[in-house]
Amino acid sequence: MVATHLAAVSDGHVIGTLRILLHGRTAKIGRMAVSASSRTEGIGRELMESAATTASSRGAEEIILGAQLTAYGFYKRLGYMEEGAVFDDGGTPHVMMRKKLQL
Ligand SMILES: CC(C)(COP(=O)(O)OP(=O)(O)OC[C@H]1O[C@@H](n2cnc3c(N)ncnc32)[C@H](O)[C@@H]1OP(=O)(O)O)[C@@H](O)C(=O)NCCC(=O)NCCS
Repeated sequence: MVATHLAAVSDGHVIGTLRILLHGRTAKIGRMAVSASSRTEGIGRELMESAATTASSRGAEEIILGAQLTAYGFYKRLGYMEEGAVFDDGGTPHVMMRKKLQL
């Protein structure tokens, strides 16, 4: 399986990252993180928008992700909708979220 990693870089330092896995027409985003000192500056949004563009260009019609509950509001703002019950992943509560991509 091919993984695509996006990175936000500032002054030669990686300050944000995520990973895209493509499963047929569904892309799965994971490993989303922005460095603590660079949060709430729009970097996470830009990374997610770039991921949607990248996934769409590779044939994806939707994106799914497992959101930590603490980041639920971030994804919700970007148009992701929760589905299913809250589940535990490594001791952290998560919920699956999905967004259809504009074709
Ligand atoms: C969640 C995270 C990736 C957000 O990145 P960020 O660069 O701070 O987000 P942005 O500045 O692009 O925020 C975009 C919008 O989401 C909001 N937002 C950001 N983090 C949020 C959160 N945890 N909960 C609710 N809303 C949030 C912002 O206020 C902003 O709102 P606006 O559109 O009204 O301006 C970042 O806080 C992070 O790395 N957290 C720790 C790791 C983590 O939780 N990763 C996700 C695992 S599923």
